[in-house]
Amino acid sequence: MRHLVQAAGLLPATEAAPPEYVETVFDGIAEGFNAHLVELGYRIPGLLRTALLRHVPDDDRSIGPTLDLGCGTGMAAVALSDRRFEELVGVDLSERMLCQAAATGLYHRLVKGELREALTERSAYWTFVIAADVLCYFGSLEEIFASAHTALREGGMFIFSVEEWEAGQNGDKWSLSRLARYQHKLPYVSRAAEAAGFSIATLQPDILRNEDGQPVRGAIVALRRS
Ligand SMILES: C[S@@+](CC[C@H](N)C(=O)[O-])C[C@H]1O[C@@H](n2cnc3c(N)ncnc32)[C@H](O)[C@@H]1O
Repeated sequence: MRHLVQAAGLLPATEAAPPEYVETVFDGIAEGFNAHLVELGYRIPGLLRTALLRHVPDDDRSIGPTLDLGCGTGMAAVALSDRRFEELVGVDLSERMLCQAAATGLYHRLVKGELREALTERSAYWTFVIAADVLCYFGSLEEIFASAHTALREGGMFIFSVEEWEAGQNGDKWSLSRLARYQHKLPYVSRAAEAAGFSIATLQPDILRNEDGQPVRGAIVALRRS
């Protein structure tokens, strides 16, 4: 409730959505989730697929260990289901979302938990860390970027979407929208990524989905640990 009150602008926003809020919301909407996103013209899994495959050799070899943060029902895995993964692990706070991800049969392992903890479990291990429509539950990105940098092997990539906090509004980092999702200024995303030690391979503005008949603008970002 506190998070929703903050989204209404009646209290200052905290730096991330509380895990209890995320778990309750997604357990509640898991059943109709995929159909609802198709209705919204949800494009992120397809855009993320394109961004990831740009960095994979175009042959039969399998893709290295990949961690899908906030995997939800597994839509990113479905978008990449024509490719073989050495290891594909999904992590999410919502048990009901994870049940649907399990039903895809595409993950080697699914973990119920907080993505910031999952990121600290292994160092210099993952080839890809991906986050499709998940950083909208975080305002400050510094901690996630630092952990993702440590978790990735050299040359590994962190590929994710962000919703854009439009130019012209006050503030230079992030804002909590009335839909209780965090939106980010793209220059802030670049600054925080570079401060964590990443080089920016791509920061591609795009339309992510529609909301109330209006396009939601954001970007697909690919960061490389060099
Ligand atoms: C909008 S859904 C996107 C799901 C999926 N990535 C997709 O593209 O369909 C966001 C997902 O992130 C999960 N999530 C949000 N914050 C999280 C956190 N701190 N730790 C783990 N999962 C989180 C939610 O439970 C939810 O399943």
